[in-house]
Amino acid sequence: MLDKIKEIRQKVDSLQADSLEAIEALRIEYLSKKGLISSLFADFRLVPNDQKKEVGQLMNELKQLATQKINDLKLSLDEVQTADSGLDYTLPGAPVNLGSRHPISLIKNEIIDIFIRLGFNISEGPEIEDDWHVFSALNFPEEHPARDMQDTFFIQSNPDILLRTHTSSVQVRVMENNTPPIRTISPGRVFRNEAISARSHCIFHQVEGLYIDENVSFADLKQTLLYFAKEMFGHDTQIRLRPSYFPFTEPSAEMDISCTLCGGKGCNVCKYTGWLEILGCGMVDPNVLESNKIDKEKYTGFAFGMGVERIAMLRFGIKDIRLFFDNDIRFLSQFKAAH
Ligand code: DAH
Repeated sequence: MLDKIKEIRQKVDSLQADSLEAIEALRIEYLSKKGLISSLFADFRLVPNDQKKEVGQLMNELKQLATQKINDLKLSLDEVQTADSGLDYTLPGAPVNLGSRHPISLIKNEIIDIFIRLGFNISEGPEIEDDWHVFSALNFPEEHPARDMQDTFFIQSNPDILLRTHTSSVQVRVMENNTPPIRTISPGRVFRNEAISARSHCIFHQVEGLYIDENVSFADLKQTLLYFAKEMFGHDTQIRLRPSYFPFTEPSAEMDISCTLCGGKGCNVCKYTGWLEILGCGMVDPNVLESNKIDKEKYTGFAFGMGVERIAMLRFGIKDIRLFFDNDIRFLSQFKAAH
């Protein structure tokens, strides 16, 4: 019996296996119910009583040794396989590249946030519009140059249908469907038949604003736009309003802000004037109120419209409008939330 134990022990010591199947075969050979070690236990009753203690101990040791050996073989096989696959499970994971918002969306959302704080809501209208909403209801005379084929993309089969040239068309839709008080901004895409250059594009974005109520004055317009300018360009920003002309406002003005680069001292961004033009505005022309069935005796209003690309170029110091439309990831990934 002792010899048998010794013999099995020597074999166990030198066990080798290079696959899971081989290890399993060894387990069956040595440790299963009918295996070599179990059969030793079956013969245990034949051991003379005075040797039982010693033999029993050796058998238990042998069983432990065999179990340990087979587990070790499994572990070392795992290591070999991991090394073979060339994978290093301790390496950190590959980073997931997150997308970033388009700079135009960032600025558009900022404009929206500013006016929402002032109690404006958001309205939208179609990009493919009709002459009434883009021109006629906004007091454009029949022969006004903005209707010219040069500026407007018309639908060939029906010149009454066109791509909107400004988001002022949404003013008309809001007035059709609401009664004052109206306080709304309309962000959206607009289209003009213009040559593409560093300064202009045939597609761009505008945000239109409209405020109609009793007793709305030019002072309200000025204060609203001053608040906007300070929120958008910083609290030291100053504004100035220059008289201008738009068919749908009377009086009309263009608003400049103090130069974002030199603060008004004069530099090549502001062409040494100290000022940068950023939007058009004015008091809603009574003809427009009338066209849209709003009582022009009772109500007054102001409106304004700005180009989102223009504001984004000033905020981010971008010199070429075409960059916004190229979708070059090296450009786009540079913009994080503004401020
Ligand atoms: N619609 C004008 C444009 O496209 C911008 C504008 C000027 C909008 C004056 C207005 C406004 O609402 O009052 O250039």
